[in-house]
Amino acid sequence: MSDQLAAVPRLDLVGPATPLERLDRLSDYLGHEIYIKRDDTTPMALGGNKLRKLEFLAADALREGADTLVTAGAIQSNHVRQTAAVAARLGLHCVALLENPFAAGGYQPGDNYLANGNRRLLDLFNTEVVMCDALHDPQAQLRDEAERLEAQGFRPYVIPVGGSNDLGGLGYVQCALEIADQGQQVAFGSVVVASGSAGTHAGLAVGLQQLMPETALIGVTVSRKAQDQRPKVETLQQAIAARLGLTDAPAPITLWDEYFAPQYGEPNEEGMAAIKLLASQEGILLDPVYSGKAMAGLIDGLARKRFASGPILFVHTGGAPALFAYPPAV
Ligand SMILES: Cc1ncc(COP(=O)(O)O)c(C=O)c1O
Repeated sequence: MSDQLAAVPRLDLVGPATPLERLDRLSDYLGHEIYIKRDDTTPMALGGNKLRKLEFLAADALREGADTLVTAGAIQSNHVRQTAAVAARLGLHCVALLENPFAAGGYQPGDNYLANGNRRLLDLFNTEVVMCDALHDPQAQLRDEAERLEAQGFRPYVIPVGGSNDLGGLGYVQCALEIADQGQQVAFGSVVVASGSAGTHAGLAVGLQQLMPETALIGVTVSRKAQDQRPKVETLQQAIAARLGLTDAPAPITLWDEYFAPQYGEPNEEGMAAIKLLASQEGILLDPVYSGKAMAGLIDGLARKRFASGPILFVHTGGAPALFAYPPAV
């Protein structure tokens, strides 16, 4: 698998590896060995999981001769922030189609959601922001946007929401290689990760199946119930495996969907408590939309004895810039 992966063109944006560490104080607090993979520390523009996907996607964009990266997400998208940063680094134009997931009413995070956090950083990267009412069909909307740009003489490259396609997902096969290497002395019983647009979860599923087949991978959903998330993860898992020429039957996908309510992007008490716990025990920052909810799943899963035995590895996917977009408590 690693040879096939190494043959795919890729920019070096992440560096040799992100740290993998034991969380001593959290382990004592929870009474269970917990480790963390620090993908929140990828070395561009406040870090996060998307840089791994962008190593492959941006390489493809350059190969195609693109001069513009076009992508989409919520106003506080970490993916859009990292894509915009990569575009700046490569001297490319970046166009971001953004939606306000709370435009229809209900929960309102306040003005910081509209202008601070990730959104504020887009202006620093000179991103061209195009607001839309809703990303009801992001693929089609991105295609339309690309056509508009072509008509203006640009050469756009479309990066899907979350960078989650078979190419971007290779970034998390690479992460699985790092985990297997760095965790050689630890027999992880389980790996826990946030599952959103699904490329992170699917890439890990493909990589860990090959490298650490005894370890359970748990995706904590942050956007939708398991019945809707499962086909997204499985379709990507198959596409990523096919790209690498892997022919084994895909590993079963485990999803825990009890931790993202009331909805995508709306903080909940358990997620905020998890953020506070990691900050106060370990000096590590989680976020209210993804990693805080995934950690809430880990904590509750331990309390409810949902895990197999063995140390647990939490894959920290980043997101802390969004702390500045939300009120401090729910
Ligand atoms: C901080 C953070 N964690 C996790 C995720 C989920 O990753 P994926 O979209 O690959 O499922 C995202 C996606 O935007 C994210 O920004």
